[in-house]
Amino acid sequence: MSQRTHAPTPKPWIDAIHAYVPGKSKAEGGKPLIKLSANENPLGTSQAAIDALEHLGAARNLYPDPDSRALREAIAAVETLDVDRIVCGTGSGELLGLAAQAYAGPGDEVLYVRYGFSLYEIVARRCGAEPVEAPDRDYATDIDALLAAVTERTRVVFLANPNNPTGTLSTKAEVSRLHEALPPSVLLVLDHAYAEYLGGDEEDGGLELSRRATNVLVTRTFSKIFGLAGERVGWATGHPDIISALNRIRGPFNTTSAAQAMAAAAMRDAQFVEEARAHNRKWRAWLSEELAALSNHGLRVVPSHANFVLVLFEGERDAAGAQQALADSGYAVRHLPGQGLPHALRITIGTEEDNRAVVRAMRAYLSA
Ligand SMILES: Cc1ncc(COP(=O)(O)O)c(C=O)c1O
Repeated sequence: MSQRTHAPTPKPWIDAIHAYVPGKSKAEGGKPLIKLSANENPLGTSQAAIDALEHLGAARNLYPDPDSRALREAIAAVETLDVDRIVCGTGSGELLGLAAQAYAGPGDEVLYVRYGFSLYEIVARRCGAEPVEAPDRDYATDIDALLAAVTERTRVVFLANPNNPTGTLSTKAEVSRLHEALPPSVLLVLDHAYAEYLGGDEEDGGLELSRRATNVLVTRTFSKIFGLAGERVGWATGHPDIISALNRIRGPFNTTSAAQAMAAAAMRDAQFVEEARAHNRKWRAWLSEELAALSNHGLRVVPSHANFVLVLFEGERDAAGAQQALADSGYAVRHLPGQGLPHALRITIGTEEDNRAVVRAMRAYLSA
């Protein structure tokens, strides 16, 4: 018998997982790059959140509040939600994993759209469930295709809205249609990581659904518009039975004292959020237009509702070359060949200077 057979063996469904690939921050040679590869906030972090960290004091020897009570109260007040229907997590990524783990297991299916958020496959496999991808409609979510892929084994449906990496949005009517057509035993997870970037008229009705439906969980994050990606904090809301299930399996101290204090302050800082939203709206339109103007070189921009744009390379010049050209100019963007998008780059909306530099570098690459 070989020695290997005596070694611990991960479960086959764990062996099948390819680790999450984070956005790059360095060039091949190790040179630091400006990151437009992870959809972080180019305006930084709310000053109120930074001040809250300073006021936290030095009590690092004590565990944080296990229930993130003050943070949940801040969220409940701003979003008009019941505080008991909110659970906080180590980023919304933790909560997506808990949702899959609580409701799906071996023999079950977890469904999401092709070109969806790459973590969905990982969280599905992690609990032994089978990940199932529904076809897209020219990169956008196709509600009919999702519904057609539902089987009696489907337990969880993940819908990122706006979606990452495409930036596309399913309308309120589409989300409502999806929810109504799903069996009530299927958990619909509406992943709102980018929802704060939407205008009021684009809102998908997810929070309202989570207030009245028994099978809807909405997840939100402090990593994007709130500028707190480094603190790893997110939250979810839904029916008390769903929240109870997640609370029973989450890490007992899953958000740090710093994360709780900073996120509560960021939640109340409506002005910072509005500034970030306005900056994003202005520069997303500008970047989309400038890149779309390069259509004679085969560039196509998928219309985005988030804080990034997905750019398709449908001409002679390819996405990998453009990624390298941008890296040579000091910028990291996201190339996603592992997600079936070897012909695309996802570019986070940066500062004015960043956006202008990206367009300059792209023009130079395409016309070289
Ligand atoms: C669609 C989507 N959901 C969830 C997350 C996870 O964010 P976090 O764990 O930082 O809250 C991301 C991060 O990029 C995302 O794009």
